[in-house]
Order: sequence, then structure tokens, then C-alpha cells
Amino acid sequence: SYDNRVKLVEVGPRDGLQNEKKTIPLATKIELIERLARTGLSTIEAGSFVSPKWVPQMANSSEILEHILQQKVSSQVPISYSFLAPNAKGLQNAAKLLAQNPNAFATQSTPANDAEAVLKPSVEVAVFAAATESFSQKNLNCDIQTSLEQFKEVIRDSKALGLRVRAYISVVLGCPFEGFEVDPHKVAEIATDLLESGADEISLGDTTGMGTAPRTSALLKCMASAGIRSEDIAMHFHDTYGQALVNTAVSLEHGIRTFDSSVGGLGGCPYSPGATGNVATENMVYFMETLGMDTGVNLDAMTDIGAWITNELGKGNESSVGKAVLGA
Ligand code: HMG
Ligand code: MG
Repeated sequence: SYDNRVKLVEVGPRDGLQNEKKTIPLATKIELIERLARTGLSTIEAGSFVSPKWVPQMANSSEILEHILQQKVSSQVPISYSFLAPNAKGLQNAAKLLAQNPNAFATQSTPANDAEAVLKPSVEVAVFAAATESFSQKNLNCDIQTSLEQFKEVIRDSKALGLRVRAYISVVLGCPFEGFEVDPHKVAEIATDLLESGADEISLGDTTGMGTAPRTSALLKCMASAGIRSEDIAMHFHDTYGQALVNTAVSLEHGIRTFDSSVGGLGGCPYSPGATGNVATENMVYFMETLGMDTGVNLDAMTDIGAWITNELGKGNESSVGKAVLGA
């Protein structure tokens, strides 16, 4: 039978907020996560264990993880919360909190087997490589090979803790420093390395929104030729050029069923000049509904959250669907 399910990974609390200049109160971040947790989403990227000197806005990610581990976030479906960790130090900071709350989360190796376990949150770790040397230097202060060696360790140690691992590759369809011509074979090579290191999923980041339909197709063909399965790939589109949903349609045709998005279209990468937000979750949910696909996410609830959080941040609502639904 035709499987019409699509998994949306909500990255608003991390990718959406990381680039905001003004410090966002912890209470606002937690309210955002709590509201998102009641929309039907199954995965929320909640924070980032990176250097606070590099990304000050993510400095209170420990408090966010702690709040989640105290099981203070209610939801109707089990939710997996993901946190970026680029190196051993980042994972150690997360692992400390997990060790203090050993029974607070469901690990990947222990399948949820009873009702009691259902609402235990899961925790995922996300590492992030880049497809170009320039972006790797700017974002991680090291070359691609060095980053992959560090990730090998982070992935191994995360798996030992029973945590699922997602691995991003940034600038797969264009780089702010090297332009449009990013080599898809290089992307496939990095993805293969990360999967061999034990990553459970590769999220292909169009960091700058420079991706187009034909180049998205070429990239996914190249991934398939390299033996990478579509079920191991997520697509992470930024909507800078307004191409995110077109590229999403192309990705669906290539069998991709996991997509990253951000409520209200929030976001941007601090090391990608001019980068705007991720594709808005409201737009993604609406688009999938028009195709008869099932995201499990309540569009009206998501629309309300988009209007609320963009207002909290003093920004315009970047979701065209959100604005249309609200008649704004
Ligand atoms: P570095 O300066 O080379 O690190 O940065 P270092 O190892 O030399 O350490 C320097 C200091 O940082 C030391 O402290 C370390 O302890 C500390 P000091 O001795 O000076 O007091 N440190 C840390 N502190 C907290 N957490 C850590 C950590 N690591 C070191 N994990 C580093 C290297 C990787 C740390 C830095 O480059 C960094 O934090 N980069 C993160 C950049 C980032 O977060 N970018 C945005 C996320 S990626 C993205 O948005 C793209 C994505 O959305 C997909 C897409 O759209 O393409 C995922
Ligand atoms: Mg991003």
C-alpha cells in the first residue's frame, strides 16, 4: 500500500532562534517547545551544545534539556528532542544531564513497550558537517576531514548512551563562500562516511536556499548511486530564494519522507551571511495536506504558534500560509 506519511522535524527552537541577536528569555524558548509539543510533531530540535562564544543564543540549552528530562513537557505522541553537539565537549555537557536523570528518557535500544514509556521523551544528538572547506572552517573552525574524525567519536559515544544520531551536511546546494557549484559526489562521500560512523540519518542542508529543482534532483540521484537509501535522508531547506517547496516536491519524487522546517519561517545560520529562515512549518504542513500526505501536525495550532513567536521576537511572520490562514 502507498505510504503517505511524512515526518516533519521542527527546528524552530534551534535553527529558528540561534541567529537572534537579542537574548530570548528561557521562558519564551520553553513555552515555544511546550506549544510545539502539542501540535502532533514527533521530533523537535530544542537546542545546541556548541560554544557559547560562537553562538550565544544557544547558551541555555542545558536548562532546556533539563526541563525536558524533568518530563515537564506534555504531548499526545512520544517526542524525540534533538540537540546539536559538534564535539566531545558538547556531548559531555548533554551526557552529564542525562546521567543525572537516568530513567527520564527512552533510549533507542529500549523500545517503548508499555503505556508508561510512551510519553518518555527521547533525546537525539545532531552533528553537523559541511560540503565545502570554506564553510567547514567558518562554522566549525576545522577542515572537513578533522570534523568527520571528531564526529566519529561523538557518534560512537552517543550510541553507547543509547541516543539516536542525526548528521547534517550543510551547503549541499550552494555555499555562501564557494557559490553554486558544490560537488554532489563530495556530499555523497561525506554522507557515506557519517553513516559508516553510525549516524542514523543524514539531513542535507540547503543552508543558503540556493537549491533549485534540477540540482536537488541531481543531488538525490547522486546519493542513490552512492547506495544511500532515501529512508536515511532528510531534507533541510532554507527558503531564501522561495524554492523550498519546489525542492520539497522534487525530494518527495525521490522517495524522501523526512523534512526539516521552522515555525513562522524563523531562522538563519550565523556563519552564512544573508541566510534567511528555514521553510515555514505551516507552509510545509499545508503543502503536504494538498498532496494527500499525512504529517500528523495540526495546521491551525501551528499557525497560532507562528503568529505568537514572531510577535514575541518582534519580527514579521514569514509564513505565507500562516498569514493566509489567519487572514493577516
Ligand atoms: P574552537 O574555538 O575551535 O574550539 O571552536 P576549541 O576546541 O579550540 O575550544 C575553545 C573554547 O571553546 C574552549 O573554552 C572550549 O572549552 C570551548 P576556553 O578554554 O576558551 O574557555 N568549547 C565549548 N564550549 C561549549 N560547548 C562546546 C564547546 N567546544 C569547545 N561544544 C567549535 C570549535 C566547534 C566549538 C565552534 O566552532 C562552535 O561552537 N561552532 C558551532 C557553530 C554553530 O553552532 N553553527 C550553527 C549550527 S549549524 C547550522 O545552523 C546549519 C544547519 O542548520 C544545517 C543547514 O542549514 O545547513 C544544522
Ligand atoms: Mg539550517
